[in-house]
This record gives sequence, structure tokens and C-alpha cells, in this order.
Amino acid sequence: MSPKFDLVVVNGIVVTAADAVPCCIGIKGGKIHTLSPSFSSDEIEGAQIIDAEGAYVMPGGVDAHVHLCQDLKTGAHGLGGECADDFETGSRSAAAGGTTTIITFATQTRDETDRSLIKVVEAYNARAEATGSFIDYGFHIIIVRNDPEILENELPILVRDWGVTSCKLFMTYKSQRLTDTQLLDVMLASQKNEITTMIHAENGDMIQWLAEKLENKGMVAPYYHALSRPPVVEMEATNRAIALAGLIENPILFVHIGSPLAAANVRNAQTQGMPIYAETCPQYLNLTYDDLQKFHSPTCFENSKHICSPPPPPGTSDHDELYLGLHNGTFTIFSSDHCPFRYDHPHGKPSGDLVSRKPGSFRFIPNGIPGVETRMSLLYTGGLATGRITPRKFVELTSTNPSKLYGLYPKKGAIMPGSDADLVIWHPQKTFEPFALSNDMLHHNVDYTPYEGKEFVNWPRYTILRGRVIWAEGELKGKPYDGEYLKRGPSYFGTGPAGRRRDARKTATWLR
Ligand SMILES: *[C@@H]1O[C@H](CO)[C@@H](O)[C@H](O)[C@H]1NC(C)=O
Ligand SMILES: *[C@@H]1O[C@H](CO)[C@@H](O)[C@H](O)[C@H]1NC(C)=O
Repeated sequence: MSPKFDLVVVNGIVVTAADAVPCCIGIKGGKIHTLSPSFSSDEIEGAQIIDAEGAYVMPGGVDAHVHLCQDLKTGAHGLGGECADDFETGSRSAAAGGTTTIITFATQTRDETDRSLIKVVEAYNARAEATGSFIDYGFHIIIVRNDPEILENELPILVRDWGVTSCKLFMTYKSQRLTDTQLLDVMLASQKNEITTMIHAENGDMIQWLAEKLENKGMVAPYYHALSRPPVVEMEATNRAIALAGLIENPILFVHIGSPLAAANVRNAQTQGMPIYAETCPQYLNLTYDDLQKFHSPTCFENSKHICSPPPPPGTSDHDELYLGLHNGTFTIFSSDHCPFRYDHPHGKPSGDLVSRKPGSFRFIPNGIPGVETRMSLLYTGGLATGRITPRKFVELTSTNPSKLYGLYPKKGAIMPGSDADLVIWHPQKTFEPFALSNDMLHHNVDYTPYEGKEFVNWPRYTILRGRVIWAEGELKGKPYDGEYLKRGPSYFGTGPAGRRRDARKTATWLR
């Protein structure tokens, strides 16, 4: 007789977005099969057994914001960096950090050859298939133009054939930003196709104006990147995007919100019943302006290791506000925005004019930092272990809500019979010795981590993908082609409460 289960996890505290209970999990055929207070020895005969020793057992991490195989052209002169991670190295790093699903970005550009979104996705898919992935993956599509025939003809095909049910739009970066009219065009098309609209909300004009003023004053060191994008830049753009979305009643998700000012706009819209969602990332809860001037030299290039957009907030009181937003539901999801550039590499942080890493302008430094592997442990250390968020909230933010938002639930993000057996099992807290992180412990293809030397109080002990252990006790057990492409469905989150009164002062009620 074949064993009842392939794998059982015993002695864990099983945490979901709803509950935390001591129980055992029986896994069969890659799926969660049984949850039970205990198993008899007959029942677990022949199964592989993992003893969680009292530690938290959670749904595997779902990181909905990961840049892989994507060279970015975000610099002032269209210059940008070379993405350090491909699907193999990026997904390997994710697995070692407790993540079992990533959603990455296929990117349209302004090149004529990139008009067709379907071709963009096909080409990007080829990059994924070239190396394979350690974990499951799906794609978002970045749209940088509003060609009516493409939106009309191709979006339905992306949804139907590829399960690409989310797009990302930019309000900044010369080579990507859309005007308000263009934003409305794409949002309306997304809405018709039940595609979730993700928005990078920063006011591009304010940034460009400030950056020029800074440069004219010779204020060009990496630190001044932050001063070219003060929080008001994000506040203005979120406010505007909320108004635009409200006009046509389109749900939106703000990616990487980095300031309490923007979070307050989101909160206000939510209070009015609008379907406005927000994401924040580890860097906004851990780094500050200080990290951009750590080395105290006005030109110190090493500070470029912390350059991302929006920048980390000015001070730690901002962290407290953002943690409050995680706790009180303003933030729907917590993602890494892993955007990897090497430091010691001509196509990495020193791109553009900074070939010799000599003092140059912050404007040429590619924006983005690595973090797919540290996402879960940073939130564990800074949020869960400190009691700022509950274990249930941790699961909601890192796994369940991203699965719901992006049409993967309850295959992903849940521990219930029939769900994929994707799990992260932590170390028992009582016996775990805190340790200081160094980059050589990580599995990405980047030569630094912004969290070098920081102390972590826990780390994933096991990562399990569809019933197979892919990371155990500090060692990778999986392989690059273990991961499967995920065709996603529509968002599980609605378009706001039914019967919500449409306010003709804010909505073009006659439009639909
Ligand atoms: C940043 O994260 C590290 C590691 O989790 C932690 O030790 C440190 O206290 C955090 N710092 C802040 C300012 O949150
Ligand atoms: C919830 O958090 C947000 C974001 O930090 C904040 O703006 C808002 O005031 C908080 N609301 C309540 C009711 O605590």
C-alpha cells in the first residue's frame, strides 16, 4: 500500500492569515491534504517527516514585486544598469529566503519593436525558460504607451493565454512615464479586462526640476538622490492617481509606498470605500536618509548601494508610521522590489558617466536594491519579533494578500486542503542565535546587500515548494527547473463595496 502522505510536518504552530494553531500537516501529491492535531504512527508510515520543533509554519512567501532579467533604462539620459539576476539566481535567492512564488516584470519599451505586448511577454518568457526557476513564477506587464489597438486587441489575449492579469504604469522616469491622459487610457483598458493596475507614484516633473537644481549647485553625491525626491513627490502623485482612478472607478495598487504622507492618502481613499491598495517594502521600514550618507564623505560612492526610488524615508519615525500602516490594514501587501545591480561592475551602480566610480551625478546611478532573500526575515525581525505585527498579519502581508490580489488564491497563500503545499518553516525562536548578515550568506548574483552587518533574529529553516523541500538548514535542495509558470486569474479583491454611492463630484458616472 502506498503511504497516506508523502511528507508530514509535525510540532509546528501553523499560521495563516486567519489563525495560529499548533497542528500537523499531511502533504500528498504536492498539495496540502490534511490538517490534524496529531497523526497516528500508521498514518505517517512511509512519509518523510519534518519536526518543526515548535516553530512557526507558514504559507511560502509570495513576492509580487521582483525584477529579474530586466535591464533598466531609468537614468536621466536613458542610461541604466544591467540587471544582475536572471531567473535562476533570483529564484534561488528567493527560495533561500522562504519565498515560493515570485511575480516578475515583462517590460514594454518605447522602441517601435516593442509595441506588441504579446511579443514582449513571449520574449521575456524565453528568458525565464532559458535558465529555469527554483520556484513558481508569473509575470506582470509594464506598459509605457497607450496605443489604442494594442490595448484593445492584445490585453484580452494576455489575460486568456498568459494569465497576465496585472500591469504596471509609471508616473516618473522619462523613458517610462505616462501623462495623465495616457494613464486614464490604460487604466480604462485594464478595467475592461479585469487587470489590476499597479502604479509607481512619484511626480516626475518635481523630481526632474529638483535634480537639475541640485546638479547646478554641485550637489551630486548619492545622498542627494533622496533630496531630489522628498516625500511630497510621492504624496502628490498618489493623490493624483487616486483622483484619476476614482474618475473611472478603476481599482489600483500603489507599489513601493515609502512615505507616511502617501500612506495617509491611501488610507483616506480606503476610508471612503475606494478600491485603493498599497504595497510597501523592507527598505522603507529599515533604512533612512542616514544610510545614504553613512560614509560621511560628500562624494562617497558607496552610498549608491542604498539608492532606490522612492528613497528610504528621512527618519525612523517614518518607520513607526509605516509599521502602523502594516498593522492597521492600509498596506495590503509587503514585497521586496528586488531590483539588483552590482556595485563593482561597469553596468551596475557606476553606470553612465560614473565608469570609474568617481564623483558624478546621482542621476546616473541605476535605481534599485536587492532584497528578495531578506524580505521575510527583515519583517520577522523588525515586525513580528518586536510585536509590531502579529504572526497572522505577517502571513497576510507576505503571502495571502499578494495571492488574492494577483489571482493566485487559494492555490497559493493558504494552508488548506487542496492548496499547493508551499511552506516556510522558521527556526524555533527560543534556540535560535541571532546573527549578523553578510552578503556571502546570500544566494543572489549581487556583490553587496544593503543590510550588511545587520542583526537578524530568525531565518527560514525549510522552504517547501509543492511538497518538495527546496531549502533546508542553510542548504539549497532544489533545482532551477523545479518552478512552474503560473497563469493567474482575476484579482480576488473586488472593485469596492457593492452599492457604494457613486459621487458625481469625483466619478464620471455617465461613462459606463
Ligand atoms: C533593520 O533590520 C535589522 C535586521 O532585521 C535590524 O537588526 C535593525 O534593527 C533594523 N533597523 C531598523 C532601523 O529598523
Ligand atoms: C493607519 O495607518 C496609516 C498609515 O500609516 C495612517 O495614515 C492612519 O492614520 C492610521 N489609521 C489609524 C486609524 O490608526
